[in-house]
Amino acid sequence: MKSIKNIKIGGGGLKNNLFLAPMLGFTNFAFRELIQKNAKIAVFTEMIPINALSKDSNYCKDLIIRGSSERNVFYQFFGNNEKKLVKSIQNILDLNIKIDFIDLNCGCPAQDIVLQGAGCALLKRESKIKSMIQASKKAFDIPFTIKIRTGYDKPKHLDYKALEDSGCDALFVHGRTKKQQYSGNIDLKFIKEAKERTDLPIIANGNIKDLKDIQKVYFQTDCDGYMIGRQALTNPFVFREIINGNYSTFYERIDFLDKYYKKMLDNNINCAFQNAKLLSLFLVREIKDASKIRERISKTKEFEELLQIVESIK
Ligand SMILES: Cc1cc2nc3c(=O)[nH]c(=O)nc-3n(C[C@H](O)[C@H](O)[C@H](O)COP(=O)(O)O)c2cc1C
Repeated sequence: MKSIKNIKIGGGGLKNNLFLAPMLGFTNFAFRELIQKNAKIAVFTEMIPINALSKDSNYCKDLIIRGSSERNVFYQFFGNNEKKLVKSIQNILDLNIKIDFIDLNCGCPAQDIVLQGAGCALLKRESKIKSMIQASKKAFDIPFTIKIRTGYDKPKHLDYKALEDSGCDALFVHGRTKKQQYSGNIDLKFIKEAKERTDLPIIANGNIKDLKDIQKVYFQTDCDGYMIGRQALTNPFVFREIINGNYSTFYERIDFLDKYYKKMLDNNINCAFQNAKLLSLFLVREIKDASKIRERISKTKEFEELLQIVESIK
C-alpha cells in the first residue's frame, strides 16, 4: 500500500502528495518557508479576499508575499466574482510574484464570508464556481483547484465532470459539511464516493495527524493526497515525521516559533506578535497542563515574555 507518492496537478508534478492547508492568521510566507525547510511539500497561502485585492494589492500585502525559497505555492482566493478574481491574480503577477497553483475557497463556513456569497456559499452555486474557473483558465496558464466541504447542510456531491470540463485540476475535500463546522468525524465514505465519480485528483482533508491517519484515510478512500491543517500548527514538523519518521523535539518546535517571529519582523509583517502568540497557543496543545500555559501566553504583551513561557516547558 503506497499512500505517499508523487502526484500531478494540472500537469504540475509534485514530489509527494502532502499539502499544508490554508489557515488564515498562520500560513503566511514565513510559516510556509519554515515548513518547506523540513519537508518538500506543497503549501497553501491564507485565503485572500478578491474584493480587496482586485482594488489594490497593498490591501493584501502580507497575504501575498512569497518567500524566495518557496516552491509549489497554492494561492487561495475567496470571493464570487470572475472579473475580480482575474484582476486579483493579475495584480499579484504584476508584482513579479510567481503563482504555481490557484485555488478557490468553496469551504469556509464563517458567517461573514458566507453572507458575502463566498466560501461555502459557492457550494450552492456550482455554475459560479465553473465560471470562475473558466475565467481564470482563459486569462492564465496556471492550474486551478477548488477546496470544498462535503456539502452545505448535508453531504451532496458536485458535478465533478462539469468542473473538470471547466478546467478544474483537482479537488481538496474537507470531509465535513458547512453545518458541522469542525464537529463530528471526517466523512471518509463521501471522499471515497468522490474518488469513484471522477478522475480528478482528490485530496482528503480533516483531522489527519500522522502516518497512521494517512494510511487509514488511504485505505478507506483510495484518495490521491492528504492536506493537513491544525496538526501542522501544533507540530510544524508533522510532514517531516510522515515522510521519514524523524520525530521532532519540543526544542525544535520552540526554535520554529522563534524563527517564524523573526522572519515576520524582518519583513515588516503587521501582526507579527499576534501571529506568533496564536501559533504558540497551538504549539503547547500536547503539553501537560496546557490550559494553564495557554492562559499565561494569552496575557503576554511582547515576544520575549512569550518565548520565556514556552521555553520554561522544556
Ligand atoms: C485557524 C484556521 C484558519 C483557517 N483558514 C482557512 C483558510 O484561509 N482557507 C481555507 O480554505 N480553510 C481554512 N481553514 C480550514 C483548514 O484549511 C482545514 O480545512 C481544516 O482545519 C480541517 O483540516 P485539519 O483538521 O487538518 O485542521 C482554517 C482552519 C483553521 C483552524
